[in-house]
Amino acid sequence: MSDPKIVSGLEGVLVTETRLSKVDGTAGVLTIGGFPLEELAPNATYEEVLHLLWYDRLPTTSELDELRGELAGLRTIPEPTIDLLTAAARKKLPTMVALRMGVDTLTLIDVDPSDISSEADMLRVKSVTARIPTVVATYRRLLEGEKPIEPNADIPHAANYLYMLKGEEAHPDAVRALETYINTVVDHGMNNSTFTSRVIISTRSDIVSAVVGAIGSLKGPLHGGAPGPALDMVFEIRKRAEASGKDLKEEAESWAREVVGGGGRIMGFGHRVYKVRDPRADVLGRAAVKLFEGSGDTALYDDATAVEDVVLDVLAELKPDRSIKTNVEFYTALILHGVGMESDLFSPTFAVGRVGGWTAHILEQIAEARMIRPRAAYSGELDRVWSPIEEREDGGNRGG
Ligand code: ACO
Repeated sequence: MSDPKIVSGLEGVLVTETRLSKVDGTAGVLTIGGFPLEELAPNATYEEVLHLLWYDRLPTTSELDELRGELAGLRTIPEPTIDLLTAAARKKLPTMVALRMGVDTLTLIDVDPSDISSEADMLRVKSVTARIPTVVATYRRLLEGEKPIEPNADIPHAANYLYMLKGEEAHPDAVRALETYINTVVDHGMNNSTFTSRVIISTRSDIVSAVVGAIGSLKGPLHGGAPGPALDMVFEIRKRAEASGKDLKEEAESWAREVVGGGGRIMGFGHRVYKVRDPRADVLGRAAVKLFEGSGDTALYDDATAVEDVVLDVLAELKPDRSIKTNVEFYTALILHGVGMESDLFSPTFAVGRVGGWTAHILEQIAEARMIRPRAAYSGELDRVWSPIEEREDGGNRGG
């Protein structure tokens, strides 16, 4: 029997069923837990979305209060985690690396790591979701040489994240923009980091390991690492326009031609599944308009959309068969910059949102109870002949 055809990058391969989100890459439609993204993301609180993903329905008022209380009670991180983050800050490690290291230490507060009952797993899911913002915010404060801020159990998840970063309660517009962002990225089909978490938990490993693996995957520039460079591109093009006295669009065009013509990639554009505009870009685009207009300064938003238009034209001309459109990362950068975050916080904040999806997938995979184990087609030599090292003239690498 011949081997089945190899599908490089598993593109288009169905690996499981999920009720969590549906990505229609041809129509450009994203459904989360049965709701169109456009309805859910700008209206729901993050805790409501978590309830939807974990329990398959929106909460009642009392259920929401209960979940909020539970999560708020799980926000503090243990002393050894803070010590480790302090050591990482001394080395000025990137925030995404510190997040990965910090989350790994959360096993220290697991009362009984050998307990794999569904109650114990649900507590771990809530614990890691509640604590990721604390790990990120604590690290950022340490990195800036400031004292970490204790979580505030009286305010919701998104508001508390901003509070721990800044040391003061954020404006409601900023909280709403952040909440729309974390709702938008909470889940997205079988993306690389989600798949990674499912592969790990499918061996009946543990929830912390699965989330740590997912963070490692998200860190890569082809997945969650793009928003920083996307925003840097806009700043760089503005800088060049100021230096040359040319129009921003003219500079954007020569910049885009340079990158794509040289075989490079423009961050914030292109997607494995979407061959039309990423619907998340529109939801975040609308949230960004509100945020920037509310602040009374739309200069960066205007620059970004002008650069976007030009880049899309250049990509359509230079890669005509590829249908490369704006993806979620482009507007992520704008929103997160707009709420006052440095670019080093963009990917970690993606993790703050996506952990809701990772943990829901982890629970689905535990229920599926089937280890993920694909195959590879062997392309190496066969029938090599062993020879002792002293008799080996060419490293013993001859075929038989
Ligand atoms: N800029 C320039 N060219 C691009 C881009 C881009 N952003 N994206 C794809 N291409 C080109 C490739 O160079 C390639 O061209 P070629 O065949 O002429 O060599 C062609 O399009 C196909 O590229 P693939 O890598 O095979 O396409 P894939 O489906 O794997 O791409 C990916 C998806 C990795 C996201 C890609 O579009 C990319 O690298 N984008 C930039 C990084 C980015 O924004 N990542 C965030 C994605 S969203 C998320 O993960 C949350």
